[in-house]
Amino acid sequence: MRIDIVTIFPDFFEVLDISLLGKARTRGIIDLRVHDLRDHTHDRHRTVDDTPYGGGAGMVMRPEPWGEALDAILDDAASEHGDPLVVFPSPAGELFTQAAAGEFALEEHIVFCCGRYEGIDQRVVDYAQSRARVRLVSLGDYVLNGGEVAVMAMIEAAGRLVPGVVGNPQSLVEESHSDGLLEYPSYTKPAEWRGLEVPPILLSGHHAQIAAWRREQQLERTRRVRPELLPPEPAEEA
Ligand code: ADE
Repeated sequence: MRIDIVTIFPDFFEVLDISLLGKARTRGIIDLRVHDLRDHTHDRHRTVDDTPYGGGAGMVMRPEPWGEALDAILDDAASEHGDPLVVFPSPAGELFTQAAAGEFALEEHIVFCCGRYEGIDQRVVDYAQSRARVRLVSLGDYVLNGGEVAVMAMIEAAGRLVPGVVGNPQSLVEESHSDGLLEYPSYTKPAEWRGLEVPPILLSGHHAQIAAWRREQQLERTRRVRPELLPPEPAEEA
């Protein structure tokens, strides 16, 4: 899988050298390239933003550097990777979910465009749409200073679903959101710690009962913390 990131803060992504994703890069499973948007400016101050047409607070990212950066990446990748997906992290986008992470993990090539300030000139999104599939994706209903942190979260969530990145694929099956519910609580040794005991059922060796207990814990947790994730109750017969 190839991932390109365009940003004015390339250093932000140095952490992707470590941990599981770092290993996936070394092993060639993920080909990750970070690009400095300012390399596509042509003035002394390497300007990437300007005041918004129509007035208002803040600055908007100018389209020219973005157009150049996108052209360079998409032209370079055209021969190797047929059908790229361009992602603009934005609080105005669709919500990023585990399902979206799964979809990203199936992509051959994703280009993440990290906006800053009040956003990117809308024509950049329109232009990207003329060259590739495009998704605007939000990490959640809050505003970040820019797309970098959102992209980091999306790469981590999607990257670990790419085959070969996580050592034991079973751990992906049993985690929060993989079946639409929150994860059950986990325990390890010792069986008693500071007066707190591991639920006895987990020490019983009864696999079916343990599975049933875990399922009940998932349902109870989800009902309590995230009831909107539960399927709707069937309507009562009149
Ligand atoms: N940029 C700023 N806020 C964001 C959010 N919530 N999600 C994705 N990108 C963003």
